[in-house]
Amino acid sequence: MEIVLTGKGGPEMLAVRDDDAVPPGRGEVRVRVEASGVSFAEVQMLRGRYPMQPKFPFVPGYDLVGTVTEVGAEVRGVRVGDRVAAMTRTGAWRSHVVVRAADVVPVPAAIESGTAAAVVMNGVTAWQMTHQVARVRSGQTVLVHGASGGVGSLLVRLAVRAGARVLGTASASKHDAVRALGAEPIDYRAGDVPARVRELAPGGVDAVFDHVGGRSLVDSYDLLADGGVLVSYGSASTLRDEGHWLRPYLGTIATFAGWRVRRLVGRGRGRRATFYYVKGGASFAEALRQVFDLVERGELEPTIEARYPLEKAALALGHLVDGSATGKIVLEA
Ligand SMILES: NC(=O)c1ccc[n+]([C@@H]2O[C@H](COP(=O)([O-])OP(=O)(O)OC[C@H]3O[C@@H](n4cnc5c(N)ncnc54)[C@H](OP(=O)(O)O)[C@@H]3O)[C@@H](O)[C@H]2O)c1
Repeated sequence: MEIVLTGKGGPEMLAVRDDDAVPPGRGEVRVRVEASGVSFAEVQMLRGRYPMQPKFPFVPGYDLVGTVTEVGAEVRGVRVGDRVAAMTRTGAWRSHVVVRAADVVPVPAAIESGTAAAVVMNGVTAWQMTHQVARVRSGQTVLVHGASGGVGSLLVRLAVRAGARVLGTASASKHDAVRALGAEPIDYRAGDVPARVRELAPGGVDAVFDHVGGRSLVDSYDLLADGGVLVSYGSASTLRDEGHWLRPYLGTIATFAGWRVRRLVGRGRGRRATFYYVKGGASFAEALRQVFDLVERGELEPTIEARYPLEKAALALGHLVDGSATGKIVLEA
């Protein structure tokens, strides 16, 4: 079975189809998928606004966890029966997926597949931004936009675990959940987020994680304390824009270039602004091993809003689109 995104529109544009049994080629493995994530990327793809998405029709699915059922020629280190995870960007919403053996990461036996799937793309994104980009430390104050979301909830947990004070924006209905994660909630729908952040942290914040984009980036940068860092990793606020998907990013690049010049001439108060985009390869694999290790030791627990069978992918995506979810939605075999 595979789930095909047939064109632009709502979740009803997803269709369930039979898939062909493709054997793994050289250096590839075939994986029986047990769980796969539903993410904001698919919401953008539905609107044709995800950067460089394939032409319709295509099979979405950013990441997967499953068991290797077949191994192609010249594969070393991965065997039939291994449980593995991989980031595919698209194509994971299938019963069976062929991936490069070099791209799979072993999943510890103690972590069930739905939980593991909730931290593949989201976990690596949150972990790398927290520990490698912003380098959040004990005693710092950080602002996490979208603290109730799949990535946002993990950012909060990791920053709290690092010893930071965390302020998190979310819809009011999700404030209890955000508090339970360890953050101080701010209602972004109620108006002036910067004013509220300044009330809570008059000296500014050491890091802002911003997936909102557009105007929010300027507000986020202005909230930084001396030496602080703005990490921009999404553009949720431009989802409903018309025109080319690239347009909002061009404005952002120009704004960032201006800040960089100020920093270079010594007028930026040591603040920096940077983009983050999750990339595959060795650093992804290493980060995912670290994330699985935290999950296995009980130090990182993803919030799972709901689990749906693969054939109900349209319902699952509808659940994310309607805005009621807290944490991650997972598809299971
Ligand atoms: N750069 C990368 O490599 C990378 C990787 C993964 C994800 N991302 C980005 O990360 C973001 C989150 O992805 P996800 O899958 O975790 O999505 P998600 O689970 O749907 O969460 C999105 C969250 O955004 C919040 N939100 C929406 N509009 C907002 C606004 N104006 N201000 C503050 N919060 C707002 C929502 O909060 P409420 O529900 O409380 O209203 C929701 O919790 C997306 O923008 C995605 O593109 C980027």
